[in-house]
Amino acid sequence: MEEKRILVIDDEKNMRHMLAVLLEKEGYQVDSAANGKEGLDLSLESFYDIILCDLKMPVMDGMAYLQSFQDSGQESTVIVMSAYGTLDTAIEAMKLGAYDYVSKPFKADEILLTLRKAEERERLRKENRLLQQSMRERYSFAQMIGPSPAMQEIFATIEKVADYKTSVLITGESGTGKELIARAIHYNSSRADKPLVTVNCGAIPETLLESELFGHKKGAFTDAIRDKKGLFQEAHGGSILLDEIGELPRQLQVKLLRALQEEEIKRVGDNLSIKIDIRVMAATTKDLAEEVKTGRFRDDLYYRINVLHIGVPPLRERQEDILLLIQHFIDKTSKRLNSEVTGVSPAAGRALQAYSWPGNVRELENIIERAMVMANGSTIGREDLPSYLQPQEETVEYFTDDENLSIKEASRKLEKILIRRALEKTEGNRTQAAKILEISHPALLYKMKDYGLD
Ligand SMILES: Nc1ncnc2c1ncn2[C@@H]1O[C@H](COP(=O)(O)OP(=O)(O)OP(=O)(O)O)[C@@H](O)[C@H]1O
Ligand SMILES: [Mg+2]
Repeated sequence: MEEKRILVIDDEKNMRHMLAVLLEKEGYQVDSAANGKEGLDLSLESFYDIILCDLKMPVMDGMAYLQSFQDSGQESTVIVMSAYGTLDTAIEAMKLGAYDYVSKPFKADEILLTLRKAEERERLRKENRLLQQSMRERYSFAQMIGPSPAMQEIFATIEKVADYKTSVLITGESGTGKELIARAIHYNSSRADKPLVTVNCGAIPETLLESELFGHKKGAFTDAIRDKKGLFQEAHGGSILLDEIGELPRQLQVKLLRALQEEEIKRVGDNLSIKIDIRVMAATTKDLAEEVKTGRFRDDLYYRINVLHIGVPPLRERQEDILLLIQHFIDKTSKRLNSEVTGVSPAAGRALQAYSWPGNVRELENIIERAMVMANGSTIGREDLPSYLQPQEETVEYFTDDENLSIKEASRKLEKILIRRALEKTEGNRTQAAKILEISHPALLYKMKDYGLD
C-alpha cells in the first residue's frame, strides 16, 4: 500500500511527538508544524492526504489556518483537534469544510478510527469521481450526453444509419438536441469530410428561399447580378439539414420533392439540371403528420423525408440525463469562464431534476452557465438558480427530500399547512376552522399554539 502523508499542526511539542510516534507506527509518513502559519507553508508546498490541526495556537490559530487552506483550493482532508472548551469552534470548523474533529485528550484508538473513517471517505470520493467519468464516457456519443434508455437508443440508431444515404426526419421540442443529432449522423458517416450545410427554412424570406436552396443564374431576377451557387450544390457529396422544415412554403415543397427524387436541381432562371449527391436530413418542432392532415404539408414530401424518424423526447421525460448533462455543461463552461465551479449541491441537483424544462437542454445549459457566474466557491447552490427554481414553500423541499422519512415529522408539517389554510379560508374564525379540519375547538387552539400560528 502507498504510504499516506499526514501533517500534524499543534503548538504543544509533546502532542506533536506523541502523534508522530503513533502514526508512524501505523505506517503513515508524518510531518509536523508548530502553528497555523508553519502548517500553511508546508501544506501549500506539498500534498498531504490528511491534516490534523489543533484549534488554539499562537501566531495563526486553527480556524485561520483552515480558512486560508480552503481558499487555496487544495483538497486534503482536515481533521481538527479541540481541547476542552473549544467544541463550538470545532463545529464552526466543520462548517468551514473540516471533515471531522476529535476532542482532546484522546486515546490512540480514537484518533486512528477517525483517520480510517477519513480515508474511507476519501477512497469513496475518488471512486465516485472515476465512476462519474467512466459513466460519462460510456453514455456519451459525439459530444452528446444521454444515459437514459431513450437517448441510448437514439445513439444506437445514429451509428446504424450514419453510413446509409437514408433520409432522416428528426422531431422534438425546441432545445432537445435535434441539430446535435443531425451533426452526429453526418460526422459519423463516410461523408464526414464533406460539408454539412444547415438551412433554416423558417428564417429565410420566402422570396429568397428558392434561390438560396438551388442557386440562380445571372439575370434570373432583378437582384441576380451574377450566378449564384445554391446550398444544395454547396452540400454536394455531404449532407444537408433542412431545419424547421415545417415552415417550408407549399410551393417550395414541390420543388424540394422533385430535387430529392431526381437527385438533381435546377437553378432559378436556368433550364439546365445539375446532378447532386446529398444525404438529406430534416428537423422540426412541429407535428408533421398533423400538418399533413390539415393540408399545410404535402404528404408525398412527408413520406420522402420520413424514411427514418428520430423522435427526441423532451428533457422532462428523461430525468436520468439531467445530472450528467449538468456535469457536462459545468466542465465545458468552466474552461471558458475560467470558473472554479466543479459541481452542484444536492439540493440544487434535486431542484434541477424536478423542473419541467420547457426549453429543454438549451434551457439547462443556460441556467448552468448563469449559476456558475453567480456561485461563490466550487459548488452551485440552490440559491444560485433562477427564482422559479427556488423552494415555493419550505414544505415542498421537505417532502421531496428522500432523507425525510419520519411519519411523525411529516404529519406535523402537513397539519401545519392544513391549519393555516383552514384559518385563511375562514378568515381566522377558529370555530369554523376546527369544523373544516374535523378536530375539536380546544384541539385546534392547542395545535395553533404548538405550531406558532397565533
Ligand atoms: N444530449 C445532449 N448532450 C449535450 N448537449 C446537448 C444535448 N442535447 C442538446 N444539447 C445542447 O443543447 C443546445 C440545444 O441543442 P440543439 O440546438 O441541437 O437543439 P434543437 O432541438 O435543434 O433546438 P431548436 O428546435 O430550438 O432548434 C445546444 O447547445 C446543444 O449542444
Ligand atoms: Mg435546431
